[in-house]
Amino acid sequence: MTAPLVLGIETSCDETGAGLVRGHELLADAVASSVDEHARFGGVVPEVASRAHLEAMVPAVQRALATAGARLADVDAIAVTAGPGLAGALLVGVCAAKAYGLALGKPVYGVNHLAAHVAVDQLEHGPLPAPVIALLVSGGHSSLLLVVERLTADVVPLGATIDDAAGEAYDKVARVLGLPFPGGPPIDAAAAAGDPAAVSFPRAKYYDGTLDFSFSGLKTAVARWVEAREAAGRPVPVADVAASFQEAVADVLTRKAVAACRSYGVDQLVIGGGVAANSRLRALAAQRCEKAGISLRVPRPGLCTDNGAMVAALGADLVAAGAAPSSLAFPADSAMPVTSIVAA
Ligand code: KG4
Ligand code: ZN
Repeated sequence: MTAPLVLGIETSCDETGAGLVRGHELLADAVASSVDEHARFGGVVPEVASRAHLEAMVPAVQRALATAGARLADVDAIAVTAGPGLAGALLVGVCAAKAYGLALGKPVYGVNHLAAHVAVDQLEHGPLPAPVIALLVSGGHSSLLLVVERLTADVVPLGATIDDAAGEAYDKVARVLGLPFPGGPPIDAAAAAGDPAAVSFPRAKYYDGTLDFSFSGLKTAVARWVEAREAAGRPVPVADVAASFQEAVADVLTRKAVAACRSYGVDQLVIGGGVAANSRLRALAAQRCEKAGISLRVPRPGLCTDNGAMVAALGADLVAAGAAPSSLAFPADSAMPVTSIVAA
């Protein structure tokens, strides 16, 4: 018996994603981004993102169906990001999913975006092991989670950022360095030519014994360093600053992830979210996990940033686990907690 065909819809930020998944098999992953429309503002403008989702939603679903060689009528279930994210942006995906669900007479699952960033790894590496520690690093979140038995239940938050998320720090530091938005990819690229030991930036909460993060002080330290350099009339070594900043972020994230594994006696780590695409984070995590005897899973960079396939992957897990679909009245929840995997 073939597994159900699940359509995943993602509109929590500036990417309109439509993905198709059967079990853990990725059939299509159509993404349209409105990032160019936000670039001149240096950050995502919610109203602009919502309007772009409205235009891109149906074409993205049609592209995904064409890629998979499927028809809308073949879809067995629909999963959509219910939160967290930008309220207006989420609403476009949630309304589209409900409309497809009603028209097709198929169940709709309003799912958690953060859990979907973890679930997506299964499309590349097969079923998630359990227990597993998940390090989730995106534009809005930096969290450590313990998945006890299944991602569709039992997610225990262990630590989170107390101020800026890791991706947010990348985006703000890029601005200071005159690099484009979003800042992760250009900093990653610039850092390749820089010296990570050129500037010793602070590593907040490095030794504090908690599993929380803080990146606001690091961001400010980079800004002050660049300002002082400019005030002295000296050129800013962008590659060195990018590499040194990136080293500080990767150092703290991987140190805490390994500490979480040790504290909970778990020897498996999965990393997800847009910042998981970062080359230094991936390399340092691989190095430190190997040393600590932890097996590491990180999806390929294209699956780390927001997409519809990750939502479909979590939807497929929920269907397989026999989870109840959401009611047709479920809301878009901009502050959906990570412990809530599916909206009631
Ligand atoms: O998961 P995501 O696509 O959207 C959210 O859920 O927030 O993450 C976006 C974040 C942005 O802050 C972006 O700068 C960062 O991921 N990012 C990266 C890289 N690619 C994307 N950060 C560091 N290195 C990268 N290569
Ligand atoms: Zn995301």
